[in-house]
Amino acid sequence: MSIDKKVRIAHLSDLHLTGKNDLRQIERLDRLLAEIVQKGYDHLVMTGDLIDTASPDDWLVVRDALARNGLFELGRTTVLPGNHDLINLEEELRFYHALNPDDSGRRRRVADRLARFCTVFRPLIADPGDPVAGFPLVKVLHFGGIGIALVACCSVLPWSGSDNPLGARGYVSESTLKALGGREVSEALAGSFVIGLCHHAYRVYGTDALIDQAFDWTMEFKNRDEYLRAIKALGASLVMHGHFHRFQKYHADGVAFVNGGSFRYVPDRYGELVVDGEGRWAHRFLSLGQE
Ligand SMILES: [Fe+2]
Ligand SMILES: [Fe+2]
Repeated sequence: MSIDKKVRIAHLSDLHLTGKNDLRQIERLDRLLAEIVQKGYDHLVMTGDLIDTASPDDWLVVRDALARNGLFELGRTTVLPGNHDLINLEEELRFYHALNPDDSGRRRRVADRLARFCTVFRPLIADPGDPVAGFPLVKVLHFGGIGIALVACCSVLPWSGSDNPLGARGYVSESTLKALGGREVSEALAGSFVIGLCHHAYRVYGTDALIDQAFDWTMEFKNRDEYLRAIKALGASLVMHGHFHRFQKYHADGVAFVNGGSFRYVPDRYGELVVDGEGRWAHRFLSLGQE
C-alpha cells in the first residue's frame, strides 16, 4: 500500500427514474456513471428513490445502466431503497378504500417489494453463495490497506392514512436496530472506516411557520434519534442519505450527515467522499466534468 492511498466514493441519490422510456434521464445517468468510472472512483453509493414508480420492472433500468458501465458488482456499488421504490401511493389509497382496517396489508406490500428489490440488486447485496440478501446490509470492503464498512439500512415506513399519509416518513425497524447492536456487526466493522447509509434525512428543512412544520412532519425520519444512537455506537464517522432533495451537509451529535440531493432535478451534480488510511475524510459536491 502506498502511504498516500485514499479511497474515493461517489454518491448519488433520488434518481426517480420513471422507466425504460425515460430516455433523457437514462442518457444523463449513463453520462454520470461513465464519468465515475473514468475518474476511477473506488465505489458508488445510491441512497434510494432509484425509481419514481415503485414498479419493480423499473429497477431493471438502473441495474442495466450500472451493468453497462461495469458497476453492477458487489465491490463497485451499493444501493438501498427509498419510499418511492417501495410504496405506490395510488395502490395504497385503492386498498385503503377497500375497507381494510388492519395494517398487515400495507406492511406486507412494503416487505414484498423490499424482497423483490433484494432479488433485482442481489449481486450488489450478497455474495453468490450467501443464503440470504437483505437489509440491514453490512458490507466491508478493502481498498489497498484501507477498510471501508458500509452499513446500509432500509428506512421506509409503510404507508398509513393517519401516520404516514404521503408514504414519505422514515423509520428504522426494531429488528434493524437490534441487528445493528449485535456483536457480529461490531466485530465485522473492527478496524474499518464506518459509513452509515439510509434513505431518510435526519434533518428536514424546518422553519417556525406552521405550514413548514406540517410539511416536515410528512417527510420526517420518525425514530431518527434511535438510528443516530445505533449508528454512532458503531463508530460511524458519517451518514449518507437522500430523500429531501437538497445537496447539503450538517452534523447531529458529532456525526456528519451528507444529503446527496437529487439526480432527478440536478443530474450533473454528485457527492465525493475521500477517506485516507488514518481515518481522515473530506467531502465535496461537484459537477460533471469538474476536476
Ligand atoms: Fe426522493
Ligand atoms: Fe424519498
